[in-house]
Order: sequence, then structure tokens, then C-alpha cells
Amino acid sequence: MQIRIKINEIKSKKAAKKIVKATKKSEKKANKIKNKKLTKKHSTKKTNKSSKKIAKKQNKPSNKNKQNKKQTTKTLKQKKRHALITKIKNKKTSKKQNPKTNNKVKVLDDKVFKIKNLNFYYENGSKQALYDINLELTRNKVTALIGPSGCGKSTLLRTLNRMNDLTEGTKINGEVLFNDQNIYENNKNVITLRTKVGMVFQKANPFPMSIYDNIAYGPRNQGIKNKKVLNQIVEDSLKKAALWEEVSTHLYSSALGLSGGQQQRLCIARALALKPEVLLMDEPTSALDPIASAKIEELINQLKKEYTIIIVTHSMQQAARVSHQTAFFLNGKLIEFNETKKLFSRPDSKQTEEYITGRFG
Ligand SMILES: Nc1ncnc2c1ncn2[C@@H]1O[C@H](COP(=O)(O)OP(=O)(O)O)[C@@H](O)[C@H]1O
Ligand SMILES: [Mg+2]
Repeated sequence: MQIRIKINEIKSKKAAKKIVKATKKSEKKANKIKNKKLTKKHSTKKTNKSSKKIAKKQNKPSNKNKQNKKQTTKTLKQKKRHALITKIKNKKTSKKQNPKTNNKVKVLDDKVFKIKNLNFYYENGSKQALYDINLELTRNKVTALIGPSGCGKSTLLRTLNRMNDLTEGTKINGEVLFNDQNIYENNKNVITLRTKVGMVFQKANPFPMSIYDNIAYGPRNQGIKNKKVLNQIVEDSLKKAALWEEVSTHLYSSALGLSGGQQQRLCIARALALKPEVLLMDEPTSALDPIASAKIEELINQLKKEYTIIIVTHSMQQAARVSHQTAFFLNGKLIEFNETKKLFSRPDSKQTEEYITGRFG
């Protein structure tokens, strides 16, 4: 009897051991599945399928498994969405940088304009105004062009948005690259160039229409008709040009009724409405009184955070106040291009030194 009991005891011990073994095995299996599920989070569809197979083999997925499954699909969905958003973003940026070639992303350097061996002539080539100019203008900086009257500052400025095309009998050779594209290639769209490279002249030239219509003129030409969108552009541009506070209550009155300084800021706002990259300014304060001039200078100091500005000025003090870099011209030639501080304190060229110390010009 005792022996039988013992035998039974041994048998049940063995069975218990077997059960423990089996439990350990199933625990191991469960862990394996768990691990596989974790890796599935970071894997492709294939592993996703195999994990599904394992889940099917188990037949009865526990609540925990269901939850894991839900979470995994959620993460996968999120991942897919994220990937899609990144793809769209990348497409957008590549289009922005290089609108004509969608696939190639072109990386631009910090030189917005590269002027190479530029010669410029008036009167059918008989009068040379610029001689072999080589100059690189830095993005988001202010560059001042200085030099005595007639040295070619305005001519050079006008070559940057092909304004000289409007003068008959002009001739140009060499290259002007804007964002690495030669703007003088035959197929270049001059209208687009002039929206990207806006211009403000010595004498303010508002159109004979309301303040609102002056600003909305360009965007309307580009096909923007929505009143809300136009309102926003007008408000934003006037604010950027530091004019909004002075005119917001009479946007529909004539722009010709504004003061000289206000008219000049209106012209700046009109250029800004086209979302330019570069602003060319040809002696923008020379027709203004000191207070109005100071306001324009203040404005330039604001705008330089967002735009590249190239300013022709007859005032060395103004160049020193607003610009990072200065180019000094004499008789159609570039004599020196330097950091403004350096050019006005320790110029490299003797001719520059003579000019800034007032010996001529
Ligand atoms: N439309 C034009 N026709 C002929 N010569 C011109 C014309 N515009 C400018 N020039 C000449 O080109 C040279 C450079 O002029 P400009 O660029 O206006 O100099 P700056 O702006 O430095 O005073 C000057 O000799 C000037 O007389
Ligand atoms: Mg000039």
C-alpha cells in the first residue's frame, strides 16, 4: 500500500515537474512573441505579417495582445502619416529652392548676386559706364554702393533687375547671376525677376491712385482677386514699411496726398507686397528732409533682417550707419569692396582713403 502511495507520489511529482516545464516553455514562447511584437513596431510590413501569423497560431489573443496590436497599428499609422508629411515638406522645399526641376534640390550659397566680368555701355556701345566689375553680394545683408557722381552706381544697380533694358542703345557683356542663374540669358522672365528684385528710386513714384490700390496693384496683376487676401497683403506690407499707423484710417484716399517721406515708404511697401528677396534702393533719402531720412534708415535696419538690400548712397555717413559691406566705385571701376567698418576706418586702397577723407568727390 505504502509502496503504491509512494509510486503515486513520485508519479505526481513527475507530472508536476512536467507541468512546470510546460509552463516555463509556454512562458518562453509568450516572451518570444512579446519580443517579436516589440520589434514589429520598428519593422516593415513583412514582419507585421509574421507576427500576425503567430497571433493566429495562438488563436485566442488575450486582451493585452489586442491592446498591443491596437498600439502597434496606431504607431504604424502615425509613422506612415509622419513619413507622408515629411515627403510633402521635402517636395515643397525642393520646389521652393528650384522651381523648375522638381527632383534636384539645389543648395544655394550665401551670395545672392554674383557679378562676373561685367562691362556696360550706353549710346550703342560708344560710351562705357562700367569696366570689368566682379562683385558678390551677400544674402540678408545690406551692401552700400558709394562713389562720386557719374561713377556708375545707378547703372550697376539697374543691371541687377534688368532696369537698363528700358534704355535704348545699351549693351552689356559678362554675367549677372541671381541665385546662380544668369539673368541675361535669353529665356529669363524679366517680370518675375523684377518681383524678386524690387526697386525703390531716388524720387518716390506712387501711382496716381489710392494708398490701398498702390499696394494691391502688383498682387492683383499676379492674379490675386480675393478681397480678404488683398486686405491682408496691404496691411502686412504697410506694417513692414512702418506706414500702417499713419495711413490705416484713410487707405482709400489718394497716395499723392502723402508727404515725401510717406510716399517713399509707400513705394517700399509696394515692393514688399510682391514678396521680394532683394530690395534695390537708389539714393532713397536724397530727396527727403533729415527726419524723413532717419525714418527710412530705421526702416532699412528693420528690413535687413528679412531681405537683402543694396543701396546706392551719396552719404558716407548713411552707408556707415546702415550697411554691412561697402563697394567704392570710381569712373566705372570697382576700386574696393570691404566690410563697411574696415572700408571707412582702414581702407585697402589709397583712392578709397582719398575719397572718404574728402579729398575729392
Ligand atoms: N541713359 C544714359 N545715356 C547715356 N549715358 C548715361 C545714361 N545714364 C547714365 N549715363 C552715364 O553713365 C555714367 C554712369 O552714370 P550713373 O550710373 O548714373 O552714375 P552714378 O549713379 O554713380 O551717378 C555717367 O557717365 C553717365 O553720364
Ligand atoms: Mg545715380
